[in-house]
Amino acid sequence: TDYPQSFPAGFLWGGASAATQIEGGWNVDGKGLSGAECIIAGGQKNSTQDNVTKKDLLLAVKSQSEMKYPKRHGNDFYHRYKEDIQLMAKMGFQAYRLSISWSRIFPHGDDEKPNEKGLEFYDRIFDELHRYNIEPVVTLFHYDTPVALTFKYNGWADRKIISAATRYTQLVLKRYSDKVRYWMTFNEINTGTTGFHATGAVDSDLSKHEQLQLRYQALHHQFIASAIATKQLHQINPQAKMGCMIGRDQTYPATANPSDSILAQQEDRLNLFYPDVQIRGEYPEYMNRYFKDHGIKIKMKPDDQQLLKKNTVDYLSFSYYTSRVSNSRPTSSDKKITVNMANGFNNPYLEGTPWGWLIDPVGLRVTLNEFWDRYHVPLFIVENGLGAVDQLTNDRKIHDDYRINYLQSHLEQVKEAIKDGVNLIGYLMWSPIDLVSFSTSEMKKRYGLVYVDLDNDGNGSLNRIPKDSFYWYRQVIKTNGLKL
Ligand code: BG6
Repeated sequence: TDYPQSFPAGFLWGGASAATQIEGGWNVDGKGLSGAECIIAGGQKNSTQDNVTKKDLLLAVKSQSEMKYPKRHGNDFYHRYKEDIQLMAKMGFQAYRLSISWSRIFPHGDDEKPNEKGLEFYDRIFDELHRYNIEPVVTLFHYDTPVALTFKYNGWADRKIISAATRYTQLVLKRYSDKVRYWMTFNEINTGTTGFHATGAVDSDLSKHEQLQLRYQALHHQFIASAIATKQLHQINPQAKMGCMIGRDQTYPATANPSDSILAQQEDRLNLFYPDVQIRGEYPEYMNRYFKDHGIKIKMKPDDQQLLKKNTVDYLSFSYYTSRVSNSRPTSSDKKITVNMANGFNNPYLEGTPWGWLIDPVGLRVTLNEFWDRYHVPLFIVENGLGAVDQLTNDRKIHDDYRINYLQSHLEQVKEAIKDGVNLIGYLMWSPIDLVSFSTSEMKKRYGLVYVDLDNDGNGSLNRIPKDSFYWYRQVIKTNGLKL
């Protein structure tokens, strides 16, 4: 046969997480407060971080409560990283994605001197990973801008934040240059435009149009910071790889009606726009029309376009949890669904998770093929997983066959995409150890292969217990995906 039969040799198997959802230790060893640590348990006003106002932030910074703001306690990785990394090694992990917390390095984002204790923490993490031959994959910005900068610059809305951000990236890219080969700039840069961690707290005096204007301007600053970080990395270590990262919303037209098709294409482009900029190095033409139609003007400096063009990323990484439906003529029986901040409609062919995310393994194959056709750069799945409620049995086991089914059915489609010819670096599931969910800030929505004994009310020993999925994934890795 002249096509790949399965996962290639050197394929990176592992898992992924983010600082603010695991670390805890929010106020120790010189760490400053991040915006994520100001999001209330259960999700700000029951939805996402999208609604955090300046008033909410002012209250949060005065509070010392970890219970109210669960991303302050995470799963205590800060103190338990040795045990957690050992558990990953037991599963045979070859790669682990984590993020560096900017406010652990520069407590206010732009302090004169970095916090050496914060830098040493990540030294210890990377060394521990290498002890087990686990490749660190590192996100520079994962939803946790230092809150001091949110006050000072309204987050990414003010261009001045770029110099603070790129001082941070220059420092960590250099510091860890011989420990980390795979980097990525902004986690899910597409969803970032809708959250306060990107654009500052919601200002109630702003009109919808002004909000949109502000968000796309803030995004432009992120694109520039991303291009500068890519340039920095390539200068520091030409062998290292920088990726962009999006939350992929595979989009389907609701029916064969052409009006659904054109809508699906337009909405899909609002997702593809981000890798279009970061991989092709320029704003795509269709966005000019979008900006014009919405009265948006992006302020750019004379060198910006050249900077974007010259400093494109080396690979495309993405999270994949679900797909979405574009419906041009919804009726009252069509249910609206919002996942990861993308709006869509119900899909009668798919079932949802307990949190209503539609489960669509085939969509992952479609995504992989579309990405490969469009960009022809290496792809990297850096998040995929199931948030569910787990029951601890009396003999202290978790029989999470639903999670195994989820991961297995997605991996089957990944295998098909590899046979289709897609160049895929690896698969990192979300997440090896239970953590605080991002959108709803709770422990109850569990993603882990390892259970963490901690509930939404703060009860529990924090002990780690491998679930059934732990043993299943170990077998998958051992056979390089031959046995799914
Ligand atoms: C992705 C984020 O959007 O989805 C993660 O990069 C997040 O930070 C994950 O945890 C799952 O979402 P949630 O809201 O269920 O934790």
